[in-house]
Amino acid sequence: MPYTVAVVGTGAEPDDPGRDGYAMAYHHAAGYENHRECTLVACADIVRENAEAFADEFDVDEENVFVAYEEMLEAIEPDIVSICVPPSIHAEIALGCIRSGVVDAIHCEKPMADTYGGAKLMTQEASRHDVQLTFNHQRRFSDAVRTAKDLLDAGEIGDLRRVEFSAPVGIFDYGSHSFDLCNYFNDETSGEWVLGQIDYSEENVLFGTHNENQAIVHWKYENGVHGVAASDSTGAGGPAGAFACHNRLIGADGVIEVGPEGDGDEEVPALRIRRDGEGWTPVETEDGLHGWEFIDRAIAENVRCLSEGETPELGAENALNATELIFAAWESARRRGRVDLPLEIEDNPLQAMLDAGDLAPAPAGED
Ligand SMILES: NC(=O)c1ccc[n+]([C@@H]2O[C@H](COP(=O)([O-])OP(=O)(O)OC[C@H]3O[C@@H](n4cnc5c(N)ncnc54)[C@H](O)[C@@H]3O)[C@@H](O)[C@H]2O)c1
Repeated sequence: MPYTVAVVGTGAEPDDPGRDGYAMAYHHAAGYENHRECTLVACADIVRENAEAFADEFDVDEENVFVAYEEMLEAIEPDIVSICVPPSIHAEIALGCIRSGVVDAIHCEKPMADTYGGAKLMTQEASRHDVQLTFNHQRRFSDAVRTAKDLLDAGEIGDLRRVEFSAPVGIFDYGSHSFDLCNYFNDETSGEWVLGQIDYSEENVLFGTHNENQAIVHWKYENGVHGVAASDSTGAGGPAGAFACHNRLIGADGVIEVGPEGDGDEEVPALRIRRDGEGWTPVETEDGLHGWEFIDRAIAENVRCLSEGETPELGAENALNATELIFAAWESARRRGRVDLPLEIEDNPLQAMLDAGDLAPAPAGED
């Protein structure tokens, strides 16, 4: 079935990706271009020149370039909308698209929203209006991640006991992917409780939203599996920080590592396994943990689910499961105690602690 696609938040050209802008819309657009059922027909950005440059790049008609996304929805009535604006306005724009009544599917960038209430509302409203709402946790589509899950499901390390991750820039921005992968490995099981602590001494603002400098998080899933994670934006612990691995799966009979950190010059594979009583065995995979082509795969899967009426694995319910762990970790730091789930807050505990003056990070140093 053919689908018309529109993008909100084109970004400037992605020649110099970095913490102030990756122009993710260009990667979404490339994904739709690779999908013969999809035609990119319109774009909107509050910075008109950004939208115009994007339209130029992807052959979008001049009259379909907008500043206000609401006008775009009304004029174009796109089937699919990709939302690539900063996290603080994901919820507002996703809700606008959902409630417009003209959009069948939305693929929104991660993290879901900058408040837990916003993330919950998007999920509820998408379900109520029967709109397919997905979030771009594209790392699930890395072959290293898929192969790790296949090895786990094949019983190569026995029953899963613990998941671990290290996040280099914070449990919200980077950690959104990392928690999502933990949940994927643990079959989307809900969390039971979360215990966390953070340090926030120097401003660490990514895409307009605060992230802690360091965090340590312990959580337990309803099926008894434990999670342990650390973030470190200071660079002191190496790129992958405390656990020296992006994602580690610890089973009753062995360990799987996705994105292990090497010692010095040592070459490490993207994926390796250690069965009890053996050394590390590298596992060959087509790719590592990072790659823009994963977005093509994510979009292809979302479109397949839309046309076949299936629930996509990047769907809002799964994303909310990861988002609950993020906000529960910050909530645990606010309460100085364990947070039992479901999480019953609406706000962003890190932002609330800043607003209350309980946290006062120094301005970020010049690079
Ligand atoms: N999936 C990933 O691996 C990944 C990587 C980087 C960034 N991201 C996420 O992608 C999102 C966008 O980041 P980016 O790096 O592409 O940002 P960017 O700054 O490159 O682009 C965002 C664009 O949104 C526009 N915008 C802001 N408010 C708007 C509004 N109300 N209506 C229309 N346009 C508006 C801005 O003018 C800008 O052009 C963020 O949520 C970020 O966390 C995800």
